[in-house]
Amino acid sequence: MIKLDDIINFNNAVKEVSSYNLSDYSKKSLGRRIEKILSDYKMTIDSLIKKIKLDSNFLEKIIKNITVNTTELFRDPKIWQSVKYRVLRKLKNKDTINIWHAGCSTGQEIYSMLIILHELGIANKANILATDINTDVIEIAKKGEYIYKFNIEYIENFKQAIQVNPYNYEDKIDVSFTKYFEIDRVKNLMTAKPFLKNKVVFKKYDLVKQDNIFAEKFDIIFCRNVLIYFNAKLQKRVVNMFADVLSKKGFLILGIHESIFGAEALKYIKHGEFYIRR
Ligand SMILES: C[S@@+](CC[C@H](N)C(=O)[O-])C[C@H]1O[C@@H](n2cnc3c(N)ncnc32)[C@H](O)[C@@H]1O
Repeated sequence: MIKLDDIINFNNAVKEVSSYNLSDYSKKSLGRRIEKILSDYKMTIDSLIKKIKLDSNFLEKIIKNITVNTTELFRDPKIWQSVKYRVLRKLKNKDTINIWHAGCSTGQEIYSMLIILHELGIANKANILATDINTDVIEIAKKGEYIYKFNIEYIENFKQAIQVNPYNYEDKIDVSFTKYFEIDRVKNLMTAKPFLKNKVVFKKYDLVKQDNIFAEKFDIIFCRNVLIYFNAKLQKRVVNMFADVLSKKGFLILGIHESIFGAEALKYIKHGEFYIRR
């Protein structure tokens, strides 16, 4: 098992030769990722550190390997029902709705949101920014092309999130998945239709560095299943930054196992599954 000192030496090497800083990532999950890298590349920690110092392309590859990119369409379908019936109900009369997916991974979260915006007939009002530290996943998100067989079970999530009205079970909404995705069973691919993909601005953005790239405040920030990889100090910094770029009464939507503690919590009102900026 990898030692704490090895993780610290690895982090120091990354910091020394790049603008990345993994020092405030959770040591537990970072340790697991480094162990996986050592096993996949058949390297020792010393040879890994040596190579990242010498080879910047290799370092980029390793940073991408460090990130966990697990995601799914309509992940936790109940959240999406809340987004549809509670969050967007409050915003639908605005002229524009600014949305940021921070840590968008391969894009399924973005397309889930876009489908809901379309179903409510308000997609034309939405400005959507999608960011991640990992440019490989951003490229996949841009293409919106996924292996059909891996994603078929998420069509069930779609049904739960879109076709069921939790406030009136009689009201079954009849909408087909193929309205939004092209399915090619021979090639085993499903692809988001162009009218969905064209709406999104994609950018590389590191939540550790927190560059100020924002021209306007956001009405909704999704940062789901990202904070769990950070330590408490970095979680606080990120949640504070979100408070700065959210509009008053804007919504912050975290993963179902993530919450805000301490002084930062005073900036938000917890409302069911989401946080509202005071
Ligand atoms: C588990 S995925 C979550 C995807 C999606 N939000 C969801 O809940 O299904 C976490 C994502 O956070 C990204 N990430 C990790 N560290 C980051 C950082 N410092 N800045 C921006 N994104 C980061 C990873 O590249 C990965 O795509």
